[in-house]
Amino acid sequence: EGTNGSGDKPTLSVVTEAGFMPFTYLDKGELTGFDIDLLEAVMGEAGYDYQIENVGWDAMLLSVEKGEADLAIAGITVNEERKETYDFSSAYFESTHKVVFREGEGITSGEDIKDLKVGVQSGTTGAEAVEKILGKNHENISKYDSNTLALMSLQSGDVDAVVTDNVVADEYVENNPEANVEMITDPDTFESEFYGIMFPKDSEVKEDINSALQTVIENGTYSEIYQEWFGA
Ligand code: ARG
Repeated sequence: EGTNGSGDKPTLSVVTEAGFMPFTYLDKGELTGFDIDLLEAVMGEAGYDYQIENVGWDAMLLSVEKGEADLAIAGITVNEERKETYDFSSAYFESTHKVVFREGEGITSGEDIKDLKVGVQSGTTGAEAVEKILGKNHENISKYDSNTLALMSLQSGDVDAVVTDNVVADEYVENNPEANVEMITDPDTFESEFYGIMFPKDSEVKEDINSALQTVIENGTYSEIYQEWFGA
């Protein structure tokens, strides 16, 4: 997929979880999204060819942890806990959480989900945020393997609300008018976080790729990609 390999650099193996529109998702079977375009630009800048595979969230994390994949990009939040297991690039996107809920549920703050059934993608910062409100492994928390499944469970009525990353919530609400859902954000409850590219601990390509990311941010390429995906 990358086209700017210099020849002497290895072809890198990239993993993602493509259920996170608009960052990484499938459009008619094609992997696409802001993260996918950013990756293409960064790998071109760094001079690596790469192959990218959509493997699912848990498999993605595991293959990076084991060093089977060279890196992952999937709207992955950088936090202290993950830094114990993985390395990260510098931040490339700021995020927070939103509550998506069926119209009329009357949710106005993060705390309002306390007595509701809440769906989350398991193993995400959204799941952690919900556990802070309801309690760890609370019976009213339904954990799904993907964010897509969590949002589907909201439409089917299995849960009353879903907590997910703000931009993903925005995209979902805008694209699914028939779902009759609304959303709120709550800066008092949901902290700001940052996405980074994830690497195995002993990565030999991290420095290269991180400096290419810096270049792409500084030379205007990042802004172009941002504009394409999020511009008015
Ligand atoms: N930013 C959140 C996290 O890192 C959610 C990421 C979910 N990404 C995905 N491709 N499903 O925990």
